[in-house]
Amino acid sequence: MTARKTILDFRRMKKMKEKVSWVTAYDFPMASFAEQAGIDMILVGDSLGMVVKGYSGTIPVTMEDCLSHCQDVRRGAPKTFCIGDMPFMSYQVSFQEAVANAGRFLKEADMDAIKLEGGRRVCEQIRAITDAGIVVFGHIGLTPQSSGQMGGFKAQGLHVESARELIKDAIAVEEAGCEALLVEAIPPRVTEFITDKLDIPVYSIGAGLPCDGQLLICGDMLGMFESFTPKFVKKYANLANIVIEAFTEYIQEVKAGEFPTEEHVYNIKESEEAFQSLFREFE
Ligand code: KIV
Repeated sequence: MTARKTILDFRRMKKMKEKVSWVTAYDFPMASFAEQAGIDMILVGDSLGMVVKGYSGTIPVTMEDCLSHCQDVRRGAPKTFCIGDMPFMSYQVSFQEAVANAGRFLKEADMDAIKLEGGRRVCEQIRAITDAGIVVFGHIGLTPQSSGQMGGFKAQGLHVESARELIKDAIAVEEAGCEALLVEAIPPRVTEFITDKLDIPVYSIGAGLPCDGQLLICGDMLGMFESFTPKFVKKYANLANIVIEAFTEYIQEVKAGEFPTEEHVYNIKESEEAFQSLFREFE
């Protein structure tokens, strides 16, 4: 049995310029498929609010939602490095709450690390959580939990002034103790600078090639999330079409009495006469 990767592997991979493949998963089957494919790490993102629960954003997602999905993912991917995403208001209110909630991902769902959104404004929380011995992944750029303040799900760092703020945030979260940083929806030119500047691995979702690895949301890349598709998504499959076609064929066959056939039923193991005699007992 291959051992789970650790942050030491991810630091080594950065040094060796070996890219990390990273995907979200929210349930047992998807986590198991990702592990079987050999993915390096899995994020149980609070994007589950949109991808699984059908909310329009991540704000309503609770700690209980996240923990429950983390537990499902861990059962599906026991050998993969898994990161639990801290939902909105699970780390903003107080440092004590942030540390206690971060700890629940490890104690109750066997996660290897937690991720939280924000730069300089969450550095105190990052320090407190890492002081408690927990691996923290940072997340800057487009941060969906504060998309209200950004005026929507908008790319960040397109201009010098906002890129400067991003670079300051990246440096600050590394200094605060983050073991890795996710940058979302920022230009590759800025990603490259941040990746070279930081010692910790920098991963991209919608932030281009020049960094230490890539993350995509499983619902996006597999074509299962139909509400909208961000510019940075490549669809590697169109599962929605496959699933709808399969349901359509099933419905037609059920209505036409064509399913089930001989191959899908269990046959009696005694004679027809024996069963007729049984049925007569109840007439
Ligand atoms: O919740 C999530 O899946 C995320 C990604 C958008 C990076 O945080």
